[in-house]
Amino acid sequence: MITIIGAGKVGSAAAFDILRYKISDVVLIDLNENQAKGEALDMMQAAPAIEFDGNIRGTSDFKEMRGSELVIIIAGLGRRPDMTRIDLMNTNAQIVKSVVKEVVKYAPDCKLMMVTNPVDIMTYIAFKESGFPRSRLFGMGNILDTMRFRTYIANELNVSREDTRALVIGEHGDSMVPLVEYASVSGIPITNLLTKEQIEKIVCLTVTSGSDVIQLKGSTVYAPAVVIAITADAILTGRNRVMSVSTCLDGEYGFSNVSIGVPVVLGKYGVEKIIELELSDQTRERFGKSVAIIKEAIAALKS
Ligand code: 2OP
Repeated sequence: MITIIGAGKVGSAAAFDILRYKISDVVLIDLNENQAKGEALDMMQAAPAIEFDGNIRGTSDFKEMRGSELVIIIAGLGRRPDMTRIDLMNTNAQIVKSVVKEVVKYAPDCKLMMVTNPVDIMTYIAFKESGFPRSRLFGMGNILDTMRFRTYIANELNVSREDTRALVIGEHGDSMVPLVEYASVSGIPITNLLTKEQIEKIVCLTVTSGSDVIQLKGSTVYAPAVVIAITADAILTGRNRVMSVSTCLDGEYGFSNVSIGVPVVLGKYGVEKIIELELSDQTRERFGKSVAIIKEAIAALKS
């Protein structure tokens, strides 16, 4: 069973994607009980069409998360067009702390996926607040950035998106690091297929992609929702997928006391392994800057 805390647009869309892919039963929790119940009822009525025979429940009662294998925290304010993810942090930090207390109380053995922004900072707060081992707690951010990177590579080359492979590491935010040296189309490095100018354009589009949507329609919904579902699938089915998630570093890449996106093996037990990549000097420097930005924000939070 999966519990999603936060029945707003992304939480509800993610719940529906989880049902649509038949990944798991879902409990949808929101302080606004009618919202949670209404979303669940609406989805249940769609269940025959998507041939889903499981259960979707909406509630405001945190006890209902008992027995969840995976809990996903999406609760918190969304980012407005005039805000950066860091602007959100102080309000959302309070919300996340109180929700994590409930998770520790009712689902102490779950894997915990953070989605609330700024996700790297919220993951770090959840790690400190929960006392969970770092393997059982991670943030969803760079997987979404990676999907966007893949989309723009495919668009530029007019090839199938399925054949693109890529990785983004670092902050899920303006200092993210799309790894050009590890991006390929069916194994062919993108540096063989695209000019330097084309690659620069794709990298810029990837970095601004979330904000571009927010500027147009106020929030991102479909992309984060489906990425939450495929990430949940990696845990529930134990597929050991290799994905970039925000994880608390303990010496990896030369950093500690920070949660940031790096590639990991994601399976039944959560973050089963952190993969340390060889990075070019330039990429290492950009990653270091991203770490510094998150650490500064964490320091500002404490004060
Ligand atoms: C996104 O990048 C807002 O973090 C969310 O779509």
